[in-house]
Amino acid sequence: MSNPTNTLDRQELLVRAIKDETAQIRSFELVLESGEPLPPFEAGAHLALHLGNGLTRQYSLFDAPGTGCSYRVAVLKDRGSRGGSRFVHDALKVGDRISVTGPSNNFPLADDATSSVLIGGGIGVTPILSMALELHRQGAEFEMHYCARSATDAAFVDWLRSEAPFRDRVQLHFDGGDPAKGLNVHALLADVIEGRHLYCCGPGGLMDAVEAASSHWPAKAVHFERFKASVVATAENQPFSVYLSRSDLELEVPADKSVLKVLRENGFDINTLCEEGVCGSCLTDVLEGEPEHRDQILTADEKSLNDVMAVCCSRAISSRLVLDL
Ligand code: FES
Repeated sequence: MSNPTNTLDRQELLVRAIKDETAQIRSFELVLESGEPLPPFEAGAHLALHLGNGLTRQYSLFDAPGTGCSYRVAVLKDRGSRGGSRFVHDALKVGDRISVTGPSNNFPLADDATSSVLIGGGIGVTPILSMALELHRQGAEFEMHYCARSATDAAFVDWLRSEAPFRDRVQLHFDGGDPAKGLNVHALLADVIEGRHLYCCGPGGLMDAVEAASSHWPAKAVHFERFKASVVATAENQPFSVYLSRSDLELEVPADKSVLKVLRENGFDINTLCEEGVCGSCLTDVLEGEPEHRDQILTADEKSLNDVMAVCCSRAISSRLVLDL
């Protein structure tokens, strides 16, 4: 993978402050109870919050990367919440302790970019803010586009307009709910400029539009952060076998079970956060065979190498895979 960093140690953090950024978006400041500095993070990184209701959810850090004594995440109260954002909004209070994994980064800035286009939609602006702060610190060439329904629905707008050190590089696009009135992604991304990289995080519709409009860009120059798996067409599940080389164990994966489920049934302790192919925590080395990649974390180039797979969702094209377990 392209330079991901994953720190999967859990730690207990204290909720020091909560702020309403909009009617539906709340930011949370998390600190160590001791007040000591927290592990540093990179632009684009996120935390996984282990919620008291048994769910785990990932939220991007929106501050300037580096070392500090707090992490800040912003959470949209999602109308379709399966209990994650609803719990964070309704149950988390100042002074509570929460178990956190990370920071992890599946959305790093490329270190060889000559310029960058940042596109954030809705709450997806959070990693984009951290990236903009870092690119500004580096003195790098970039532009940022922030898409939302309206200024009142969008967090950080006043700060972006009047205080952000990179505010002259920001364009706000409010479409009133009609994407046709928003950012023209085809015009923005029509020209491929050597060395330019594109980063996008936002609702599925925006990311799909940006993906289509940048399909002629080099794959390595285009970066997306998805926290929910989008629906991808997949072949019908077929059974296959996995041989675990370090354990010298052959296992059958039936059509109605994932590799992850079979591994867990056989006593293997596999790290997972999302279990839908978007976090990278379950990536496992493949020594032989051809996986059928169903994740949304590996790039097309990384998938073509067939040397790693997300065991939570990916399956096999070959009748047998050899995994480094
Ligand atoms: S658990 Fe997240 S990609 Fe597999």
